[in-house]
Amino acid sequence: MEPHVITRLRRLRRTPALRALVREHEVLPRNLILPLFVTEVESEPTEIHSMPGVKRWPVDHVNDIASEAVGAGVGAVLLFGIPAEKDARGSQADAEEGIVQQGVRALRSGGFEGVVITDVCLCEYTDHGHCGLLDDAGTVLNDPTLERLADTSVSHVKAGADMVAPSAMMDGQVAAIRDGLDAAGYESTPIMSYSAKYASSFYGPFRDAADGAPKFGDRRSHQMDPGNGREAEREHAVDADEGADILMVKPGLAYLDIVRRTREAFPDYPLAAYNVSGEYSMVKAAAARGWIDERSVVLETLMAFKRAGADLVLTYHALDAARWLTS
Ligand code: PBG
Repeated sequence: MEPHVITRLRRLRRTPALRALVREHEVLPRNLILPLFVTEVESEPTEIHSMPGVKRWPVDHVNDIASEAVGAGVGAVLLFGIPAEKDARGSQADAEEGIVQQGVRALRSGGFEGVVITDVCLCEYTDHGHCGLLDDAGTVLNDPTLERLADTSVSHVKAGADMVAPSAMMDGQVAAIRDGLDAAGYESTPIMSYSAKYASSFYGPFRDAADGAPKFGDRRSHQMDPGNGREAEREHAVDADEGADILMVKPGLAYLDIVRRTREAFPDYPLAAYNVSGEYSMVKAAAARGWIDERSVVLETLMAFKRAGADLVLTYHALDAARWLTS
């Protein structure tokens, strides 16, 4: 290579202004979604041991933290519930006085101005910790679970949710939820599907946070095998066909190849990536030891999601990142 060819690529990196002028991607706070845990178990905000800086929020605190995030520019919150009572069918998931339903109503009555999204799954509500109903052998039943997911979605929207996000990975869940919402008169409520969700060890801290670990077995009969890439396109295609409005890849960082493939295969869909609990906890742990710079690592990570093709990022760093991006 001629020496001048080497300097040629460096010309546009010479000053911050030149770099800004030609930068291809930008992380915007409005594209970030902050997951929030709403608890019926604790009466005070309670920090999650394995996720420093993330708390479980009692209903009367939810609007404060959600509005703080939206005030900093964050686009949406995603609610997870920690119910006081669990049973085999996850009755609290679609209860009118369920914890997520209460949380949504608290946001609505508190004048929250962002988008309210709710996670729809049974694992936080079942005493066995599985994502659906079980048969006697402990296998997660697909079709009987669909009705539970549809009922849960309708109850969230009835409480005031703007969008539902099914994460149970049952076949046919988007169609069942779409039918349920339409039948209840919520034809205009969008669905963000956790369409390519892998059976991942990166969810470990979340299971502390939401108290939703399976009491036996694992989620490999419904979540995707990490060895599969092509299959993600089938998952997205099915969900898109069933009426998903936003597609998602989860987890994020170890699956950026899937984000990129999805962007290429589904150029016309909004695409979200979930920067999951284990990814968050690794950054926090290393930053606490002074081994990495939290702010620059988080912003670089969010940029990587954008560059890979995600429009939206669900991240526990959303509030910090929004502040860093606008300061
Ligand atoms: C299921 C759900 C999980 C997460 C989001 N929705 C846990 C699981 O599938 O086991 C994980 C999120 C994270 O790790 O941050 N309701």
